[in-house]
Order: sequence, then structure tokens, then C-alpha cells
Amino acid sequence: MCGIAGYIGKNQASGFLLDALKRLEYRGYDSTGIAVLGKENTLNYVRSVGKINALEEKMKERQSDGCIGIAHTRWATHGYPSEANAHPHSDCNENIFVVHNGIIENYKILKKELIKNGHKFESDTDTEVIAHLIEEHFKNSLEETMLNVLKFIEGAYALAVISKDDPEKIVVAKKSSPLVICIGKNENFIASDSSAIAGYADKVIYLDDDELGVVTKDDYKIISITSNNKVQKNCCKMDLDVAKVQKGEYEHFLLKEIFEIPEVIKNSTRGRMIPDQGLVKLGGLEVLDQSKLRNINRIIIIACGTASFAGLVGEYMLEEYAGIPVEVELGSEFRYRKPIIDSKTAVIAVSQSGETADTLASLSEAKRKGALTLGIVNTVGSTIARETDAGVYNHAGPEISVASTKAFISQITVLALLTVYLGRIRDMSLVTGKRITEEIDELPCLIEKVLENDKQIRDLAKKYSKYKNLLFMGRKYNYPIAEEGALKLKEVAYHIHAEGYAGGEMKHGPIAMIDENFPSIFIVPSDSVYEKNWSNMEEVKARRGKIIAIATEGNEEIKDIADDVIYIPKTLEILTPILAAIPLHLFAAYMGIELGLDIDRPRNLAKSVTVE
Ligand code: AGP
Ligand code: GLU
Repeated sequence: MCGIAGYIGKNQASGFLLDALKRLEYRGYDSTGIAVLGKENTLNYVRSVGKINALEEKMKERQSDGCIGIAHTRWATHGYPSEANAHPHSDCNENIFVVHNGIIENYKILKKELIKNGHKFESDTDTEVIAHLIEEHFKNSLEETMLNVLKFIEGAYALAVISKDDPEKIVVAKKSSPLVICIGKNENFIASDSSAIAGYADKVIYLDDDELGVVTKDDYKIISITSNNKVQKNCCKMDLDVAKVQKGEYEHFLLKEIFEIPEVIKNSTRGRMIPDQGLVKLGGLEVLDQSKLRNINRIIIIACGTASFAGLVGEYMLEEYAGIPVEVELGSEFRYRKPIIDSKTAVIAVSQSGETADTLASLSEAKRKGALTLGIVNTVGSTIARETDAGVYNHAGPEISVASTKAFISQITVLALLTVYLGRIRDMSLVTGKRITEEIDELPCLIEKVLENDKQIRDLAKKYSKYKNLLFMGRKYNYPIAEEGALKLKEVAYHIHAEGYAGGEMKHGPIAMIDENFPSIFIVPSDSVYEKNWSNMEEVKARRGKIIAIATEGNEEIKDIADDVIYIPKTLEILTPILAAIPLHLFAAYMGIELGLDIDRPRNLAKSVTVE
């Protein structure tokens, strides 16, 4: 949660910092703040509750021309989202300012001790102890003090610190939360992720855990927090188009990202399929000993939220077509269980951000127990991408909207590619491999057709936004899509209560809720469970429940039972979840707009959940 940024260089810091905060806002938006070291070694700070524009307004009254600064956009873990709890936090004398992403787990003990030594605290956050600890132990330089102080701290952090007592530098440190340094010309940048810096500089250094960085205008150095030795790090080239992190002609990132999906599928599959041979090439997996992959006898997919629903679709695909037993585990559960893992188990982490703390912790646990670890990750260079033995990037481009859409579709697409890849080194026939890859190749065109229903879906959102509840149902490959449709609605149109269910489970409970005021959305393509879905729709109709059906083009009989129908083109059963999810994503977006909500930044959420 939360985004941090820093600037040191030839220009005024506030310009970059505000821009970076806007790009990082997807990570949290309870409050924002900036601290800038002015030319006469003055430290000015501004903090504000809510989103960036409130901070921007305040900054107009308190211009600061300083060229060194840090900034924060918060997703509160400790302390209410108030101005006093907004970062940057300072020591007693406002000499030291700190921004932090993460949780200081032992902050209570540290705070008690510091209060005993006379320190005055202004906030309820865990973060503030860091500023006071630095004040308490300051000796020689900011980096030397931090190397000392960080040894007392337990928990997770990405930190950026500036101090009047040692100006001309920003000191950063990382443990569990992400942090990048970007190298410019006479200026250097710091941020939680590289998308905040795209267009400003293109040489990026990904800090690893237990590393501290000293960043000056023209230089930087990295030091190990555990050994205090200098660390040599390689610079990577950032390959991020600045247009991709802007809204362009769209009013909302969420809609922009849904309409990007045809392009995203092309990018996720480009160069990865040889349809006439029914083969898939995944460069990221070819680095592995292929006999090891062939010998996997069990797969555990670990993910959270939307990514876990992509994982569930993957489970059905991999079991049916690659013949490998698969389980999907939530990161938040797996990490505290006693899983049974051996060297023939492959653990696949699915994560858009590549930073989700629960997924990451589970992955580390699996690695420790000897599993082969693989990643399906969108964010290049993210922690999960680096921690896994091998993996496949989504290439879906930066996803800014908090609610995941294009990354979800890309995750399912990559899982389909993986199914063919693993299937073809086992029992899958050339014919099946050909059929699946040829149909994946068709997906961008088919998705364009789904997107043509945009106006109809917007009208349906108008019609159904007056209801207080909605039930989403699907079976087999589309059961996870029912869950995803409901989650998306909960996230972006949160005044409406939604549940996702496997259609066959309805009679075991949820049917009690159905009446004329409780509509259902059925995902009912013409597939192997069509008749079963039909029976479930009959059961709803018999209780006077309204039905929106997502059905295959050409199915006319569906109009006899459904009040409204959204058509999707015909495709292979295993690929129907891709086409069915898109109308549900659009529906959630338009429901949120109807309800007057900020669909890109729904309340209480953050995009990357980098804390437990
Ligand atoms: C998606 O709409 C959600 N905001 C959320 O469930 C998300 O998918 C989850 O937090 C996992 O994130 P990740 O893919 O970055 O790991
Ligand atoms: N724990 C800190 C706070 O509550 C930082 C949270 C975050 O990472 O946003 O302020």
C-alpha cells in the first residue's frame, strides 16, 4: 500500500513529486504529503487528507523552490486517515522527514522507549517512530544513522528520508516493500514503482531487500543493511511508454484499460505461438531444464483477489488439457498453513503487481520447501518476478486503475498458453494444440466484437443500478468469472452488494435471497454445462428473479428466459471466460459511474497490497 517518491536534482522538486504522486495514487489515496528541502536549508512540508488535488491546492499557497524532496500517498494501516497521520512524518524538531510504505511491527515498544526519552509524537502511525529513532541516534551522517537504526526495526518498509542535518541527499531503504531509483542527468528520482518516473529517466535500479541507497544529485551508492558493505547493482533500461500511464481520450483509466484488452492479448501472445505446429514458446520457461517441467506432478497456483480467479480458470484448463493436478490457494491462507510440497511440485504465483505481500510470502515458503517456483507477473522487475525460478511476463502494460481488468484477461490468456506449453511436452496432441492456439490467435478480433456492446451495457447499468443486490452465477470455466464479476462490482460500485456463486451451489443457500428485487447475472455460453445453467435459470425465474444472461451469439432461445441478454462470440469452451469477463468489467464500471463513484480509485482500496 501507499506510494512514495523522491527527487534530487537541478529542478524544483515539487513538479516531479506531484506528477509522481498522481501516478502512484492507485496505491493508496487516504492522504498525501510532500516535504521539500529549500535553498537556505529550510524544510517545508504540506499534508492533506484525501486525493492529490487537495494537496495541490494547498501547495499553491505554500510554494517551495527546493530541489530536494520526498512525497507520499497513503493507504492507512496504523491510524485514521487524518492530516496528522499523513506522511511525511518528522522528528521533534522537524529536522528529519520520512515517508514510508509498509508496517513497523515493533513500533509500540520503540515508541514507548522514545517517549520515555522525551520524544513528542504527533501521529498515531507506526511510521513516526523512524523519524524519532533517527533523531535519537543521529551520528556523523544520515546513512550511518539509518544503517544503525534499521537494525532495531521489525517489519516491512520502503523508506525515503531527508534531513536538514545532512542535506544534499535522500537516503532510502527497502525491506519487503518495493523501491526503485532512476538515474537521470544531474537529477535522480525515487519511487515505489518505475511507472511513476516514466518519461523523466530511463535507467532504473531495483533495490533488493535489506539494501540502503544514498542518492545525491549526480550520484548514488547502495549499501547492504546487514553487512554495511557497498553493493554493486546493475542499472536496467526502463521500457515504459509515458502515454501508457496517462488517460488519453478516456475519462477513466478503468475504461481505457478495458478497451486496451485486444491490444493486451496481442502483446501477451506475440511471438509465443506457432499455431500450425500447435506449439507455444515461452522464453521465460525455456531457461529451465525441460525434463524438470515434464516431471511436475502437481501445481499449486498462489494468488489473491482477481488474480486468484484467473488462477481458478487456469486450474480447470491445466487439469483438462495438460493432465496435471492443480490446486489454487489464496496467498493469505497458504502462508499460514502447513502445505505438503516436494521437488515435483510447481508453485505458480499469479500477480499483476508482483508485489502482493501475501502471494510473495507464500512463494518464499514454497521455495524454502523445495518447490519449483514460477511466476505469471505483469510488472517487469517486480519482487515476485525476481524471486521465482522462472516465469512468464504478461506484457499487459501498466495497469493504473485499482480494479484489475486487462491484467486479469491477460493472466487467463497466459494460463492458456501455459496449458498448451505443458500439455504439448506431455500428452496433448498436435490437433488439440493447434485448435487452442489458433483460437487464442482469434481472441483480439472476438474481443473487439464484445466491446461493441459497450452502449448496451451502459444502458443495462442504468437500468440495474437502482437494485441493492446482485447475484452472479456461472459453472465450470465460468464459475470463477461469476466470482470475478461480483468482486469487480463490489469494488467499483460498492453501494451495491454482489455475490458470485457456482450455479449449482445456488440451491444450497443463496436461492433463499431471490425475489423480484434481487436480479441475477448468468454466464451461460453454449458449452458443456449449458443445460445445467438453464435449469438454474429456471429456478431463479420460478422465484420471480430477473435475469441478465451472457450468452453465445446466435442463441435465440435464451430470450425466452432472460430479461436481458449480452451476446459474446462463439469460441472454445476454455476461452469463454475471457470473452464473458469483459462485459462484466464494463458493467461494473458503468454501475460505478451511475452511482457517482470514483471508479479508478474506490474507497478503502489500494492497488498493490504490499502489507498483510
Ligand atoms: C482486483 O480488482 C483487485 N483490486 C485485487 O483483488 C487484486 O487482484 C489483488 O490484490 C491481487 O493483486 P496482484 O495481482 O497485484 O497480486
Ligand atoms: N504504516 C504506514 C501508515 O499507516 C504506511 C502505510 C502504507 O504503506 O501506506 O501510515
